[in-house]
Amino acid sequence: MATHAPQTFDPTRVPHLSGQFAPVTAEVDETGLEVRGELPAELDGLFLRNGPNPRFSPIGSYLYPIDGDGMLHGVWMSGGQARYRNRFVRTPAVVAEERAGRALWGGLESMITPQVPDVEPALAGTFRDLPDINVVRHAGRLLALAESGCPFLMTPELETAGKETFGGALPAGITAHPKIDPLTGEMAVFCYALEQPFLTWSLIGPAGDVVRGPTAVEGLDAPMMIHDMALTSRFLVLVLAPVFFDLDAAMSGGSLIDWRPERGTRVALIPRDGGRVRWASDDAFWLWHTVNAYDTEPDDGDVVLEYVQWSHLSMGSADKSSGTNPGGLVRAVVDPAAGTMRRTLLDDARMELPRTDDRLIGQRHQQLAVASQAGEVDLLPGEYNALRWYDGRDADGVSVMWDAGDLSVGEPVFAPSPGSPGGESGYWMTYATDRTDASSWLLVIPSEDPGSGPVARVRIPVRVPLGLHGNWLPTEE
Ligand SMILES: [Fe+2]
Repeated sequence: MATHAPQTFDPTRVPHLSGQFAPVTAEVDETGLEVRGELPAELDGLFLRNGPNPRFSPIGSYLYPIDGDGMLHGVWMSGGQARYRNRFVRTPAVVAEERAGRALWGGLESMITPQVPDVEPALAGTFRDLPDINVVRHAGRLLALAESGCPFLMTPELETAGKETFGGALPAGITAHPKIDPLTGEMAVFCYALEQPFLTWSLIGPAGDVVRGPTAVEGLDAPMMIHDMALTSRFLVLVLAPVFFDLDAAMSGGSLIDWRPERGTRVALIPRDGGRVRWASDDAFWLWHTVNAYDTEPDDGDVVLEYVQWSHLSMGSADKSSGTNPGGLVRAVVDPAAGTMRRTLLDDARMELPRTDDRLIGQRHQQLAVASQAGEVDLLPGEYNALRWYDGRDADGVSVMWDAGDLSVGEPVFAPSPGSPGGESGYWMTYATDRTDASSWLLVIPSEDPGSGPVARVRIPVRVPLGLHGNWLPTEE
């Protein structure tokens, strides 16, 4: 890969590098966090979240939400007490940049790569790893996840242990949004790539071994971007919106990503047993995130997929949400036999980052939560000031909302009450930052009465930039 001359790029003019999104560099440990309200004593575990946080001031370009180094922010809870720790995901690029004291790699759209002697020969001309999207735990491994690439294995105290290739079985990596079947413990993943076959899927068993290696999804004629997936008892569900990578355009200063609505959006239902892929298609739409999917019947039935829809893909700060986002919460019924899908818009509120109780992945879910907007507050893409909850069993899209006021909130993550059945009882958690004083908080909201807001606000000793995805990791015996 050639090194291109730096383009004119001023990071101080990038909205997603300032305000609520501005990166932090300090790595902090603090115990005995201030709790306002009462932190439920039954919560015993770690709330952990990842997000873009460039280690040094970016050069060349910066594309929210993909660019940026990963930083994990964790709050450990036990007996009503809490402690905090944040750490960078120390990829080889971060380590090399820390040695140099400055950014060496450009943003995704800049194509700037370092050369010897700025970096060791093995890193020269490489793309940087970007495990800044999500963090999951599976088979005892804590994984910081990239959009499409090898995850990084993290220790329980958030130190970086190295790149995870699953014993060499998945050298190209995995999605940032794997799905773990709560009934079998199996983790289903996909991986897209710029080279043929462009898209593969794999299965990682409950013990962490790869039980199905990369298997090509046939039928792609060009590299495509796919951010999330869903999983039913029968299928991996992949939504292929018409987002194509255009490397030639990127190399000549254009956009890496090309939206081609005339191609429509396709849904691939990939049998978990390796059978023939079923396809359905519809007019073009984009989705970042699924809520969940499930089979209506064990055999030969339809597949229900819920997701947050967008009219098209946009990244960065362009386009905001006005006018062009007739999206919202959608329930789609996909008929694998007929190759059709019926979409119903349940709510057109501005929303993103949907979650449900992960113990119901692949089954019919109940409560689902999204980050959303209340009022006419001027918020950037990826910034929200309210949370909404829906009942996945309803057909009418009625929601309960909690207006977070001056707080900008992130993804709501469900922490079940220990011993409760799936979907029944627990707490929603999210980081939030006050727009008036930049103080950050972990909010804990009971699922039985979410509209009343938090029962506990845990003060975080540093500002937590608005980020992306995380999980509740109960303490393991
Ligand atoms: Fe995501």
